[in-house]
Amino acid sequence: MATIQIRSEIPGPRSRALLARREAAIPRGPSNATPIFASRADGAVIEDVDGNRYLDFAGGIGCLNVGHRSPRVVAAVREQLEKYLHLCFAVTPYEGYVAVAEKLNALTPGKFAKKTMLVNSGAEAIENAIKIARAYTKRPSVICFEDAFHGRTLLAMSLTSKTHPYKAGFEPFASDVYRIPFAYPYRGENGATAETFAHALENAFKRSVAPESVAAVIAEPVLGEGGFVVPPMGYFKIVQEICRKHGIVFIADEVQSGFARTGKWFASEHFGIEPDLITMAKSMGGGMPIAAVTGRAEIMDAPGVGGLGGTYCGHPASCAATLAAIEGNGQVVFRYAEGTNPNGSINNIAAVMNEKGNVLGMMPHPENLIEAAHGGSDGRGLFASALDVIAA
Ligand SMILES: Cc1ncc(COP(=O)(O)O)c(C=O)c1O
Repeated sequence: MATIQIRSEIPGPRSRALLARREAAIPRGPSNATPIFASRADGAVIEDVDGNRYLDFAGGIGCLNVGHRSPRVVAAVREQLEKYLHLCFAVTPYEGYVAVAEKLNALTPGKFAKKTMLVNSGAEAIENAIKIARAYTKRPSVICFEDAFHGRTLLAMSLTSKTHPYKAGFEPFASDVYRIPFAYPYRGENGATAETFAHALENAFKRSVAPESVAAVIAEPVLGEGGFVVPPMGYFKIVQEICRKHGIVFIADEVQSGFARTGKWFASEHFGIEPDLITMAKSMGGGMPIAAVTGRAEIMDAPGVGGLGGTYCGHPASCAATLAAIEGNGQVVFRYAEGTNPNGSINNIAAVMNEKGNVLGMMPHPENLIEAAHGGSDGRGLFASALDVIAA
């Protein structure tokens, strides 16, 4: 699809008519960032119902690192639809689920034995990671961070930091959740280092919760919703050492930062860490709903038979899409490793800032965008999902 084309006022008459229907039929809670209704999308381009075309910087919130309707993903889903649609892995297993688990066990950082379970959304991955960590450690508490976003279900919302619109009015929250400041270089005192930021964790053990009560510390390696904040390079190594010292499971929430979003498969790799558990979703499925928890085999095996799962978890069509998307995202990682990806530096992740130093987004390099806009093959849509503008 060719790129930008404006044919009507925005929103156009068809979008306005749909907006009126939407307002009458759907509550205000599920919000809309744009007033246009899509009719189709391809690569990094969306066409609305009035025939206007736009470059898509949102990618369904970081879900389309391989672009809209990646030909590999569409072909894989189509092929799956010809075989079977829904079986429920808990009733009748199928190879796709196993193949995705094997791929993620191999792709995620850490040379130890790993296992993977599949779910439907990022929030569900978070809920399950905490369940697994609690079953393994037999401890109740979880430590999370200011500015974190982990989803909207009860425990995920309790771990999420921002009050409006995510938490206010939805109390009471899940118990045994403790929050500490994130390593936020723009808001630290002058001279704040990885060590001084990590001190907040040791401090919490004295002031808020005993370390022997803590099952897990959960962190986004690069903050997403909270402002694309990249912590000092040594920070997570120190956090992980502290967790190991106290037998605490370290969970990296890579729902947003994973799958080549930062130029490597996982943002954790930039920091040289090997999280005990990793949560994944979004671009994992190349546009299909799927999520995962991958981690140390002995931790993943802690919950008993039937303790984990769900009716649609690891849906066959989403598994097929994931295997295809992993091939597509491999192109990004390959370019990064070759040094040909202009976003191939951790410093460039935080590429767009306002005058206060607040990071506005991970900007796609113009070359990628031009390629995307012209509907190139494997390169299209790369990083097109990367600009999630946040309130400063
Ligand atoms: C870091 C992170 N964790 C968890 C979630 C929740 O994912 P989902 O919306 O699929 O439930 C998100 C969603 O934006 C996220 O960015």
